[in-house]
Amino acid sequence: MTRRALRGDLLDFTGLPALGDVDSPAVRFRPDHWLLIEDGRIVAVQAEAPGEDWPREDHRGRLILPGFVDTHVHCPQLDVIASYGATLLDWLQTYTFPAEQRFADPAVARAGAELFLDALLAHGTTAAVVFATVHAVSAEALFEAASVRGMRIITGKVLMDRHAPEGLRDDVEGARRDCEAQIARWHGRGRNAFAVTVRFAVTSTPEQLAMAGGLLQRHEGLYMQTHVAENLDEVRWVQELFPQARSYLDVYHQHGLLNQRSVLAHGIWLDDADRALLRDTGAHIAFCPSSNLFLGSGLFNWAEARAVGHGVSLASDVGGGTSLSMLRTLAEAYKVQALRGTRMTAWAGLHAATLGAAEALGLAHELGALEPGRLADLCVWDWASGPVAEHRDAVATGQVAPLPAQSLHARVFAWMTLADERNLRAAYVAGQPRGPQPRLIPDPV
Ligand code: GUN
Ligand code: ZN
Repeated sequence: MTRRALRGDLLDFTGLPALGDVDSPAVRFRPDHWLLIEDGRIVAVQAEAPGEDWPREDHRGRLILPGFVDTHVHCPQLDVIASYGATLLDWLQTYTFPAEQRFADPAVARAGAELFLDALLAHGTTAAVVFATVHAVSAEALFEAASVRGMRIITGKVLMDRHAPEGLRDDVEGARRDCEAQIARWHGRGRNAFAVTVRFAVTSTPEQLAMAGGLLQRHEGLYMQTHVAENLDEVRWVQELFPQARSYLDVYHQHGLLNQRSVLAHGIWLDDADRALLRDTGAHIAFCPSSNLFLGSGLFNWAEARAVGHGVSLASDVGGGTSLSMLRTLAEAYKVQALRGTRMTAWAGLHAATLGAAEALGLAHELGALEPGRLADLCVWDWASGPVAEHRDAVATGQVAPLPAQSLHARVFAWMTLADERNLRAAYVAGQPRGPQPRLIPDPV
């Protein structure tokens, strides 16, 4: 039996915070508490120090949150992050497709998967829904590297049998064989889950989309991940390719690809009927603010999604997005929503990146909250890193006279907006330290 007791300021959620409610009752803040972990699971949360039989890690004065969940990110695109001067379709042709061709080589795929997962952990992300490439080896490498780290990873080889260059196309039968083999080998093994991964409607023939829908029908519990309605040129192209569909989203619906385990990135250019379809099928949108700003794709309207009642999680979409940090991503989310006329609270944002994502993926029994019974996927964060953030945090806590101490929301919002991976002190996956080495606070002498 392995035991570990962590001390710190515990922040998590017990429900869905309204987008603009700074006093949300769904927030659970337990300052200076102990989190007790046994064999990888949280077994208790308490104010008193545990007995001597609990090895202690003292993170007093630091924040402890559930590990972040990135619901849409591309492993091979670390090669093209921060590439200049393109919108979606030319960005794919100019930068992304050439980079993804490298992943046909198993050695590249293995090294790429390890670099990528270690980078996620170094940014405080302990679980993710990940795009590999069209090559089966790229998804295999991710499953293997995630298994070594004990991480919850949802991925699968990418399906694309048209409108992609030589070396990045599969065909319906070969893709079906590869997917079936990955489902048999990886789905439900450890913390791995298989996602039927349609890149987007443009790069799959109707026959391949039908095959993808067949996989979902034959195998209970698979995920589905794709892109939808990200960019107006893309939307027009999909209309030309699928003239019989009511909308871009409807292309997926017609092929049996929408259910409670479907994760669709972006969803900027949807209408009310699309939003109702998401709600009715249980599919959800991964909001990717950093990517949407960087590629100039548009401004996702979260309030409209809430009004209709479909789910929204949060995602970096690296390499369209420019940081793996979910905190940087949340800071961008606030700005995008501000341009849409909504002031997103830190609670709404942090919930979407933790418990909200876990619920949207049907994994809330396993992760997303600091609650007995959950696996101990969690991160320890400094409240501030660097002189400006330290000063700002001192203002929030009332240490800069004559300014009065601010609310908890004001302090956490400033943290969310200013923090990044430099604030990360430690990351644990199923109770095992996997991120930066924890730096502990010594007992006073
Ligand atoms: N649409 C199809 N492929 C991609 C991709 O790799 N990134 C983004 N942002 N959108 C896509
Ligand atoms: Zn993407």
